[in-house]
Amino acid sequence: KRIAIFASGNGSNFEAIAKACAEGRIDAEVVLCVTDKPGAYVVTRAARFGVPVVEFRPKDFASKAEFETMLLGHLREKGVDLICLAGYMRIIGDVLLNAYEGRIINIHPSLLPAFQGADAIGQAMKYGVKVYGISIHFVDQTLDGGKIIAQTAIPYEGSDRDELETLVHAQEHILYPATVQKLLSSL
Ligand code: GRF
Repeated sequence: KRIAIFASGNGSNFEAIAKACAEGRIDAEVVLCVTDKPGAYVVTRAARFGVPVVEFRPKDFASKAEFETMLLGHLREKGVDLICLAGYMRIIGDVLLNAYEGRIINIHPSLLPAFQGADAIGQAMKYGVKVYGISIHFVDQTLDGGKIIAQTAIPYEGSDRDELETLVHAQEHILYPATVQKLLSSL
């Protein structure tokens, strides 16, 4: 099976999935990295793994449908079976949703349906929650609203955001590859 990973930033989850593929913990290959932020650190990581990158600027296109049509061309050319969003800071539009229905997944740093949208960790800290977490879910028209596939709870009672983010990322890097591997057999 062939995987594409969409990311807008650091790309630590890109790396976790690419590494798991390289080490045989995921029975698939990462064939494409897509970023809407040319020069994001994920591009450097992709180069290290020899994964081709499509970098584009949304403002160079007249609409979301136009850039998604361009992306769809690349996805089809590479024979992509599954799209993993990993810190891709854009809502997926109809062009990709229709072409890849049930085959686009996302990771979100909260126990959904709590704390949807931007800065989920900050939102949760503000509430003073004692159990944080991460969710992997199918992507549909709703923001962070598709059916949940897997979750990990992260108990934390401190107030150090950096420490909490380190805990969250560590769990993401375990859960995302494991979930992708499980999901691949059902594609
Ligand atoms: C992760 O915390 C993920 O849950 C959220 O964006 C972050 C991406 O981190 N959607 P990275 O770019 O994979 O390091």
